[in-house]
Amino acid sequence: MNVWYRLHGARSSIVIKSCQHGLPEVVYWGKTLKSVSDDELAGLTDAVLTAGYLDQFPVLSIIPELGAGFHGEAGLEGHRQRQHWAPRFQVTAVETSDRELVFDARDEVAQLMLTIKVTMDTETDVVGFRSSLTNTADSEFLLHRLGNTVSLPAYADELLTFHGHWAREFVTGRQRWPANRVVKENRKGRTSSDAFPGIVAGTPGFSEQSGEVYGLHLAASGNHRLVAEKAVQGGRYIQAGEWLYPGEVALAKDESYSTPWLYGSWSGDGLSQMSLQFHRFLKKRLRLDVATQPRKVHFNSWEALYFSHEPKALLKLVDQAAAIGVERFILDDGWFRGRNDDTAGLGDWYVDERKHPGGLQYLIDAVNQKGMEFGLWFEPEMVNPDSDLYRAHPDWVLKLDGYDQVLGRNQMVLDLSRPEVFDYLYERIDSLLSQYRIDYIKWDMNRDLVQPGSAGVASVHRQVEALYRLMASINDAHPTVEIESCSSGGARIDFEILRYTQRVWASDCIDPVERQRLQQAYSIFFSNEIMGSHVSVEKAHTTGRSTNLMFRLMTSLYGHMGLELALDSLSADDETTVRQLLKYYKDNRTFFHTGDWIRVDTPESYLLCNGVVSTDKRRASFTIAALDRCDYLMPGRLRLTGLDPEKRYSLTAIHDPYAHHGQLRPNRTLAADAGIYSGDALMKIGIQLPVIDVASAIIYDLNVVE
Ligand code: GLA
Repeated sequence: MNVWYRLHGARSSIVIKSCQHGLPEVVYWGKTLKSVSDDELAGLTDAVLTAGYLDQFPVLSIIPELGAGFHGEAGLEGHRQRQHWAPRFQVTAVETSDRELVFDARDEVAQLMLTIKVTMDTETDVVGFRSSLTNTADSEFLLHRLGNTVSLPAYADELLTFHGHWAREFVTGRQRWPANRVVKENRKGRTSSDAFPGIVAGTPGFSEQSGEVYGLHLAASGNHRLVAEKAVQGGRYIQAGEWLYPGEVALAKDESYSTPWLYGSWSGDGLSQMSLQFHRFLKKRLRLDVATQPRKVHFNSWEALYFSHEPKALLKLVDQAAAIGVERFILDDGWFRGRNDDTAGLGDWYVDERKHPGGLQYLIDAVNQKGMEFGLWFEPEMVNPDSDLYRAHPDWVLKLDGYDQVLGRNQMVLDLSRPEVFDYLYERIDSLLSQYRIDYIKWDMNRDLVQPGSAGVASVHRQVEALYRLMASINDAHPTVEIESCSSGGARIDFEILRYTQRVWASDCIDPVERQRLQQAYSIFFSNEIMGSHVSVEKAHTTGRSTNLMFRLMTSLYGHMGLELALDSLSADDETTVRQLLKYYKDNRTFFHTGDWIRVDTPESYLLCNGVVSTDKRRASFTIAALDRCDYLMPGRLRLTGLDPEKRYSLTAIHDPYAHHGQLRPNRTLAADAGIYSGDALMKIGIQLPVIDVASAIIYDLNVVE
């Protein structure tokens, strides 16, 4: 007998069917469906048994079973000494509530127990899937894969995927859902910048404000495997789980393995609404005591000084940073013993007394006296072979005996699952946080894993679990310290690392042209208040492109803003501009970081638009950036979104007066009295945009007038 379970959010519902033979299946996920009866569900979804196929239809369940004749991507793969490799489960118990369904299932032959959880966050409409497998037999069960699978309707026929690399994260690709499988695998041992664990499927041509879309994100910071396939039975599915090395997970009697959470957000109004739901969900999960503080303006020493930490130069920077409006001063890489370049020192987390005689107190005092907080860079998981730590404990690294470890940025990876390594790192970080007043940690992780063996066994899953434990212990011991997740820029950004961290470094690339594109794609899953966004020098260090200061500042404005440049490089006029924009950020950050961050479809592809609308819709700010020249004399009108059609808004533009020259003239929207317009007109007619220079932007500020 089939039983139908429903979970409802504010805008969407998910319906799960559980049958006597087979595991539960997502039969509907979409617009709120409150009144449908079991009989209707059964009648409308009755499968067609075609000739030339099995006599019993295999269920496209959350863990599809090879043993039940599902010949696509099995949700569970593994064996017990070459036996029990095609299990088949029966649901034995179901627990339900308004927010959660828990299905317990058993395979008495293979002696395995499976628990499948489906959740609905009723405030944000984000659904979650998580499964756990328990071995109940005396002998070990070797697990190859446990992946949660979401069946999607056939009209979701277009996919949006993510790729990229260092300093070019969150590149998106669009394709019609092909007949063949789309597989994105990550074996790098960190979330990665080339195979971000997220995917969107939607009706063809979906855009920011149109189409029905399903976004899925695997909250995992290690390896993963993501599969999108058209099932031979019709319909289609996306499966996501950890990618496991051979032998990586072996379950002894009564041991369990749980998948990472797979989170999903559905929208019938395009991508931006889907993202907004993810943002709201994420905001609820963050450690609020830290993450909801006003996001302080950072100064980061990296691109200003790199490894040359001269106290005199640092103290000068402290003065300059404070004078310009910085609120938190971060000492990046280079402060610890032996760290003069990237060939040595990682692992020796003791202040380098040659650079900082007597320790860091002099610097922290100077920072605090200027009313700023102090932050420090760490890369705890790493060790350079040229370090005291490695010389003393060459066996502490992840490796396979008999091979030379492949280095990455001249470093190896410490085996965090070893208690002595964990304790050493905890002691070092804890004692520095206890000795000094440190308000923020930039927690970096700068290499991909190769042969990550612990006592010969593959150890990415255990490594990542130990990392979470280490971060959680630091969180517990130092609850007011904010942690940023950095990994060669944005290679470790996911919902799970964000349980322990409150800021992410989206990319080492702070060229604003790149950042405009990157931030749009980043925002598909992640919110703005946690996104470190820094202003660099005119000629970007990672691309060599020169851009004007105003564009750099405007590009950083909605995120967690900061400066990362030699402050000497600023002219007196530039300094004034920076000071003004930092003040503007401070005056408006509560609105920027508590409002809804949205992306807006633009009339021309060379223009990108994103903005913030306050939750009461009384205030809005939209940034329009031009990344190229217009093909026409003027661009089409930009239809705003998210406003209250009944309210009237005053329109004010912030722009760079130097970004308009020659024959290009501003239009009325840039005038001091740009006018008062109804939300309805702004969203239906739109704004005629002026033509602006390449690599420049306009910010439209809208305020309700009574
Ligand atoms: C990584 C980070 C940078 C910087 C350097 C320091 O590349 O992404 O921001 O901290 O490490 O070595």
